[in-house]
Amino acid sequence: MNEINPDAVILPEIYGQFAEHLGACIYGGLWVGPESPIPNTQGYRNDVLQALRDLKVPVMRWPGGCFADEYHWRDGIGPAKDRPTQVNNNWGGTVEDNSFGTNEFFNLCELLGCEPYLSGNVGSGSVEELAQWVEYITAEEGPMARLRKENGREKPWKLKYLGVGNESWGCGGNFTPEYYADVYRRYQTYCRDFSGNKLYKIASGASDYDYKWTDVLMEKAHRHMHGISLHYYTVTTWSGSKGAATKFTPEDYYWTMGKCLEIEPVIEKHAAIMDKYDPKKNVGLLVDEWGTWWDVEPGTNPGHLYQQNTMRDAMVAALSLNVFQRHTDRVKMTNIAQVANVLQSMVLTRGDQMVLTPTYYVFKMYIPHQGATPIPLDVTTTRMDVRGERAVDLLQATASRKDGRIAVSLTNVDLDKDMDVEIALGDTKVKNIEGSILTAASIDDYNDFGQPEKVTLKPFKGAKASKGTVKVHLPAKSIVTLLID
Ligand code: AHR
Repeated sequence: MNEINPDAVILPEIYGQFAEHLGACIYGGLWVGPESPIPNTQGYRNDVLQALRDLKVPVMRWPGGCFADEYHWRDGIGPAKDRPTQVNNNWGGTVEDNSFGTNEFFNLCELLGCEPYLSGNVGSGSVEELAQWVEYITAEEGPMARLRKENGREKPWKLKYLGVGNESWGCGGNFTPEYYADVYRRYQTYCRDFSGNKLYKIASGASDYDYKWTDVLMEKAHRHMHGISLHYYTVTTWSGSKGAATKFTPEDYYWTMGKCLEIEPVIEKHAAIMDKYDPKKNVGLLVDEWGTWWDVEPGTNPGHLYQQNTMRDAMVAALSLNVFQRHTDRVKMTNIAQVANVLQSMVLTRGDQMVLTPTYYVFKMYIPHQGATPIPLDVTTTRMDVRGERAVDLLQATASRKDGRIAVSLTNVDLDKDMDVEIALGDTKVKNIEGSILTAASIDDYNDFGQPEKVTLKPFKGAKASKGTVKVHLPAKSIVTLLID
């Protein structure tokens, strides 16, 4: 372990979530309505609420995604029975009743104790509409505050994170970067700080390897933004079959590890462009969509992006979170896509049943890193060549320190071989080690409805301290977090 940089911190927002009006993420996943026979608190399902509370969710992005640029917030306020229905054009043409709107989202964030992150409609909305949404949410007085009070909410909410559009190069309007930069400057001008609220304004950023988008936006608009987003999915292709979530070969698995780790050079290249215009690193890079994207489960609506979640997905989560923790100077938030029933979810629901996914458990194991100071590591490990395209280090690791306690998360990517690891601690005297492990009999194991969990967290006893080192025996395909006092 190397010296700690006392200025760096792993912001809790690195562990952010994303909830879009897409498939059963909101309706059925988070929200069943107060009249539902499914046990709920003011309409939010109790099982999911508790699962997310246990995860200490720091921030939730809403209402999209692509949905955000067709969302008109006035359709989602007032008595639920009077709200108009709307067709979700992006996601399967599903008709939604708008019963989950602004009040329901902000109340959910209060119940979870997390920061709300709003994605504003730039593609099909207006400057006035977005400006008034901010006013409705945050102003103490004035016409929008009156409207909010009429709808039962006296006190304004706090809103920090405001996204000005989503994927504005694609579903959010098909803008050129030059045109969007000007539009962004205009929109953000009228999104005001009301009643002591302070907005953190986020420009809609690039996807993957689109460095030009970042360059143009930073050149033309960096003085008007606090953050710029980046989307990166672990996906095999954008055209044609992406492969099944639960059926894959060892070769596919290692390819997936390589693809997910490629987010690191991608972040570094976007960050280097940002450095040209913003050497003091005032602007944050927010990876506000990331995760695995497989084919939908057979028989489900192709527009609802419902996929299962195996131990392979857990590995992707751990490796990605490790990368984010190495880049705290720029990466100020990330939001895995998505929280429930969509893509790489934390939870899956069916009727009144809920399943916690392997990915959920990784987020749980990484809670000790939230708000901690990262400890840089030198890792020596074997490397595997994948299809001659990428090399994957078979030992992946991250470490941090908070309140005198060191948290180390180790991943053995190897499907077949256990690994003996030595952690050099220097002068640190070890009094106690606690550990937890996530692994599975088979890498394609997953948790399903109505059966005992196959992939779940267990206590880990394979670490021993001796003379300035901790020796760890890591089973094949496992993720371990150690808490060292
Ligand atoms: O997360 C699913 C979709 O992926 C989002 O709506 C969009 O922003 C991205 O293309």
